[in-house]
Amino acid sequence: MDIVTNLLVLVHLIGMACIVGGWISLRARRVESGMGLTVVVWGARFQVLTGLALVGIHEANKDPLNHAKIGVKLAIALACAMCAEMAAARARRGSGDSNLIDYAGVLGILNTAVAALWETSSAEA
Ligand code: HEM
Repeated sequence: MDIVTNLLVLVHLIGMACIVGGWISLRARRVESGMGLTVVVWGARFQVLTGLALVGIHEANKDPLNHAKIGVKLAIALACAMCAEMAAARARRGSGDSNLIDYAGVLGILNTAVAALWETSSAEA
């Protein structure tokens, strides 16, 4: 089970890198569509899936979890994914939206801060 958890954390971290890295690459080139946006969209989708899977594994192992932190992370991750999906839909229609891309990138960074700065274990919360 440990190896599955560790692999999921690895994919979770790569998802985070895709959101932040994809966003930076789009803004650096001042574009609103293309591969960078696809990377952000898939990174955001994977964060929700791998995050929920990690919660499931921790619950199954009866590890103490900070449910307030998980709730906040889920809300931020869904908002991030929604912004990325809307930016991609607009880019497909030829009217890219750099604001939506910025929201997705900043929400990804915000969730990284929540992950790093807020205690994971409910016992310590
Ligand atoms: C934009 C979305 C997200 C980002 C950027 C993000 C970022 C991170 C990062 C950087 C870590 C590693 C922190 C550490 O090990 O100290 C982490 C761990 C974790 N995340 Fe997320 N996360 C996101 C979404 C979610 C969601 C939606 C959930 C659950 C609903 C979730 C649940 C977890 C859990 C349970 C861990 C702990 C993993 C472990 O130590 O086994 N995350 N997240």
